Amino acid sequence: MRTCELFILADRVLGPVEGPLWGQFIEFVGRCIHGGIYDPGSPAARSDGVRADVLEAMKELRPTHLRYPGGCAVSYFDWQELVGPRAQRPPAKLYRYTGVPQSTAFGLPEAFAYAEELGAELYLTVNAHTQSPEDAANLVEYLNGTTRTRWADLRRSHGREKPYGIKRFGLGNEIYGDWQPGQKTAEEYVRWCREAIRWMKAVDPTMSIAAVGMGRPGPDWDRTVLKGLIDSIDLFSVHNYCGRPVFRDCMAASRVYETMIEWANVAIDEAMDTRLSRKERPGIALDEWNVWYRARHAAEASLEEIYDYTDALTVATLLHVVLRHTRTVRLSNISLAANTCGSIFTDRQRCVRQTIFYPQMLFREKHTGEAVQTFYDGPVFPAKHERYFCGIVDVEKAKDETLPTLLHFDDLDALDALCTVDRGRRRLSLSVVNKLEDRALTARLSFRGIEPRSTLVRVYRLTGPSLQAANTLDHPSQVGLVSAWDRVAGSFPFPAASLTLLEFEI
Ligand code: AHR
Repeated sequence: MRTCELFILADRVLGPVEGPLWGQFIEFVGRCIHGGIYDPGSPAARSDGVRADVLEAMKELRPTHLRYPGGCAVSYFDWQELVGPRAQRPPAKLYRYTGVPQSTAFGLPEAFAYAEELGAELYLTVNAHTQSPEDAANLVEYLNGTTRTRWADLRRSHGREKPYGIKRFGLGNEIYGDWQPGQKTAEEYVRWCREAIRWMKAVDPTMSIAAVGMGRPGPDWDRTVLKGLIDSIDLFSVHNYCGRPVFRDCMAASRVYETMIEWANVAIDEAMDTRLSRKERPGIALDEWNVWYRARHAAEASLEEIYDYTDALTVATLLHVVLRHTRTVRLSNISLAANTCGSIFTDRQRCVRQTIFYPQMLFREKHTGEAVQTFYDGPVFPAKHERYFCGIVDVEKAKDETLPTLLHFDDLDALDALCTVDRGRRRLSLSVVNKLEDRALTARLSFRGIEPRSTLVRVYRLTGPSLQAANTLDHPSQVGLVSAWDRVAGSFPFPAASLTLLEFEI
């Protein structure tokens, strides 16, 4: 049998694990906000309408920030409809998409308060469709203005003297696509953004701004947008949803994400070569990502996924990608927080932590400090994956094995490892996904540049009765985490289709 070895190269730092890497996305879509995190009719709601049980679960995820209010929803986000006394707010045209007027009760002040309770920042997307660059600047003035101006005074008249101090803004959402109300050409978008950035930064020059990128399939969009905005943006936003109905193919999704990040970095570098000023190189915002291939991307469907054990493994591998690339991926949001692709799932009375909740919670807690290089030597396997948004556009497509757009990989590492070293906490955390469906692997662990203090380790494992096991409202605890002390005597066993995190003292 082939030997299997994992090298941990502690001196080869990949990047810091800091900043807005642990974002949650709360959007006016499906039951994410209404009926999810906010549901005044629920017996589990507090007097302000916030679901206490959902908030508790969100607290366990410890998000660094919340992206709000969209997504596609942002194209009808008229910010003036979402501020001021709740009773006087009109029903918003916010999500005309659904054809249903939306409540405005969970508006900007409520989203801000929600984020504050979580110890998180608010990351706002602005409407690049029905609102003008000036509206975006007015919003910044309303939120952050310190002088006596019309919009800052409006905030004061709403009972808030202190500026909100919101520092992260995204300009529109997926506006290259025909599903996004207000689709624009790259040139039109650049024009809108240049104006908006100019006026927004005139009000508050300290903010960070993300522009819409497309990622792998849209080189022309990406080149045009980056060329036009390289001197004025801080982040270049890309989205991707993944998953296929075949286990091994799900395990290839992380490779697609690596490819997408590589591509975005090439595009950013190309634009940097033509830059006019010496502005810092923009980073990548992995603004929306998750497993999403079963539910239809159509208004009449609920866009809700019931995640299984396999999906939790996929999410773990995608988090590995984020953590491996923090030198360039500066912001990340899993999409979304509740119900629609939600890490948390609810009905009126109950709330359940879906399977994908657990790798997020575990990594947020244990992966701190710096990500360091690992090197794997052992079995590889073949698999394929769509390079970009697959099932959500056409569910049947996700099942098609013959699509020319499938990327084929022959050499996927059976063990996918991510290691962080936190010298302050004297901790080394090594998470490993065994991507083989039916073969356990025992790997020799070889440390370079660091030596654990003891062979005694704390071991965390994702558990579940089968690859298809899900946490449902009726069976909320099928998949979860267990932990125990164990010894690493040179090598360590990784069960088939598993997630294990080893916590060493250093
Ligand atoms: O989150 C659901 C939708 O998926 C978002 O609105 C959009 O940005 C993406 O296509």
